[in-house]
Amino acid sequence: MIEARGITRTYQTHGAFTGARTVQALRGVDFTLPDGGAVSFIGESGCGKTTLGKILTGLETFDGGELVVDGVELSGLKPHQRAKYFRRIQMIHQDPYSALNPTRTIASILGDPLRMRAKETGADAETRRDRAAELLTLVGLEPDAVLPKYPHQLSGGQRQRVVIARALTVDPTVLIADEAVSMIDVSMRLGILSLLRDLRARLGISLVFITHDVATARYVGDDGELHVIYRGEVVERGLTDEVILAPVHPYTQCLLSAVPIMRGLEEPGPDRTSPTAALDERAVTPGCLFQPRCPFAQDQCAEQHPVLVPLGDVAGEASEHLHACFYPEARRVVGVEVGAASA
Ligand SMILES: Nc1ncnc2c1ncn2[C@@H]1O[C@H](COP(=O)(O)OP(=O)(O)OP(=O)(O)O)[C@@H](O)[C@H]1O
Ligand SMILES: [Mg+2]
Repeated sequence: MIEARGITRTYQTHGAFTGARTVQALRGVDFTLPDGGAVSFIGESGCGKTTLGKILTGLETFDGGELVVDGVELSGLKPHQRAKYFRRIQMIHQDPYSALNPTRTIASILGDPLRMRAKETGADAETRRDRAAELLTLVGLEPDAVLPKYPHQLSGGQRQRVVIARALTVDPTVLIADEAVSMIDVSMRLGILSLLRDLRARLGISLVFITHDVATARYVGDDGELHVIYRGEVVERGLTDEVILAPVHPYTQCLLSAVPIMRGLEEPGPDRTSPTAALDERAVTPGCLFQPRCPFAQDQCAEQHPVLVPLGDVAGEASEHLHACFYPEARRVVGVEVGAASA
């Protein structure tokens, strides 16, 4: 089980042209990933998804908040003490092409981590070979055909299956899939997504599913929570179906409507930057981060920062559907042509 409380991460960069800049990649992210459960994160490019995934696998540090893995708060531990908690959290990256060493066969790519693991399990060479074959079968590949091959002799989908098999060599309890199908041919995506679902069901592995595509989040994490991130901040969260079927935050509504240029139907209002406009990370606002692009923003949105609160009461209990918007409500957003926006 993973519990994240108020995780923040700020980067200081210094570019030749841009000068010194501070990027707040994560601004206080909270979530709980139960054993065998799923949590999905969705948001546009640069919102902090990969940063979060890396923090959860120990590949990146965080500068505020708490990360509790199996009941142990990790920020109080020294790096070498943390390693054992991160070992069973494995990340599957976006790019199966660069994830595998092109000069090694699949047998050797899977053999290395199995040999490392054998220091604990005591598995001999034959047991390790059997385990490699077993893992390839588990991810839907034919071991005899695949083991002697090099990565370039496999398709993108097959490579991503090998990447998943390699992640399974350490018997992970958590898989973090970061845009795991976005670089794979569309025809093979569903197969990889069903594999991830299957691994949860068969091995009880929990899943952090990171995507910019709502349909895949719904397919893989339909029984878990969906968190919508905007510029490092979760602006809406709740059960996946509830957020997808009845979103109340304008950013979620814009994301879900899948049309690139948005305008609110009820409130045409003054022209605003469309959500497709480039983000200016330096823009500091006391108000809602989405306000400059929001078709529904009012004066309050520019002045005060909304925090996550439950959406009304459900039968006397606080709802698990949370939002950070002063004006949460069901709305329709529509796509309009650029230039026709003020019509
Ligand atoms: N090592 C780094 N140094 C400086 N800035 C960074 C670093 N890593 C990420 N950032 C910045 O932090 C922000 C979040 O980046 P991140 O890669 O987490 O976004 P993302 O949601 O995964 O985007 P994408 O969908 O494009 O993969 C971005 O503004 C990015 O430029
Ligand atoms: Mg990313």
